[in-house]
Amino acid sequence: MQLPYPSVRPFPLLLAPMAGVSEAPYRQICRRMGADVVLSEFLSSEAIRRRIRNTLEGAEFEEVERPIGIQIYGADPNAMAEAARLITEHYRPEFVDINFGCPVKKVVQRNGGSGCLRDLDQVQRIIRAVVGATHLPVTVKTRSGWSDASRDPVSIALRMQDAGARAVTLHARTRTQMFSGRADWDEIAGVVEALDIPVIGNGDVTTAEDIVRMRSHTGCAGIMIGRGAFGNPWLFRDGQALLAGEPLPSRPDPRERFEVALEHARLALRLQGDTRKTVIEFRKHLGWYTKGLHGASDLRQRLFRVESIAEAEAIFLAYLDPVAQVA
Ligand SMILES: Cc1cc2nc3c(=O)[nH]c(=O)nc-3n(C[C@H](O)[C@H](O)[C@H](O)COP(=O)(O)O)c2cc1C
Repeated sequence: MQLPYPSVRPFPLLLAPMAGVSEAPYRQICRRMGADVVLSEFLSSEAIRRRIRNTLEGAEFEEVERPIGIQIYGADPNAMAEAARLITEHYRPEFVDINFGCPVKKVVQRNGGSGCLRDLDQVQRIIRAVVGATHLPVTVKTRSGWSDASRDPVSIALRMQDAGARAVTLHARTRTQMFSGRADWDEIAGVVEALDIPVIGNGDVTTAEDIVRMRSHTGCAGIMIGRGAFGNPWLFRDGQALLAGEPLPSRPDPRERFEVALEHARLALRLQGDTRKTVIEFRKHLGWYTKGLHGASDLRQRLFRVESIAEAEAIFLAYLDPVAQVA
């Protein structure tokens, strides 16, 4: 049941791969806050094979992010193998993860992501091809099935294990559910029971208490967190505290939130380019960091219009000390 990546803690918390969110800047923030393992956003094997620059940039990371997995997707075993080989040689992550969970239409129409779940023989061919193309551990991330009618996470995960996956992350929803309903943690428990390899639980973990609950409910070997970490990298810190039997740290006050938001923003400018595009794409993070604050909706509306990080900083300063700003 050995984990396929080095982790300083026996029960790792992983930052979920999330397109447009789990990029290098946020991965670095989350690692510092207590995430044990991070993953890249999903990258198209066809685009990697064709050396498309934008896609290859998605595979770049800095040393502080390790241990890291690069996630790839695609329906063609040859393209997947070639992508895995290139990723292994040029980027040297700790592991390669295969996405069998993506529900996005553009992806599943070409049988990528969760589209593969309609043909489990194909799933196995893809895993075997990737395993044969890299010396790195290969892990997989899946949903519980394509639709309710074919929902069978245990059979799916067993086929993945048989094909050589070294760990399975289960997002316990079907493709047709997209993000509706609740992730079925009983299904995660069922897969844990059936498999010999580690199973990482995923779905609807939004608080530190959820982390402890999912662990005891499912017996999983680690937990992957996605949307709950939006603007809240402290979730990793808090989860680690509860898992270690320590008291829950106090909530970050507005000043700390803004400091981390700005640190995240500066990393984005350094790593993604000091451009208007970077700032526009960063606006969503600014909004998330203010969630729950007094006057958050007004704050968010202003942050969604910033054209530079200096503007965001000025808005934060005015929020913390409105009197000084007027004077
Ligand atoms: C904006 C966004 C982008 C995502 N991108 C990916 C991706 O690139 N690869 C992947 O395997 N899952 C992706 N997911 C799914 C998440 O990794 C995760 O499985 C899902 O959000 C459920 O976990 P959560 O309830 O903790 O958010 C994405 C989810 C969101 C919200």
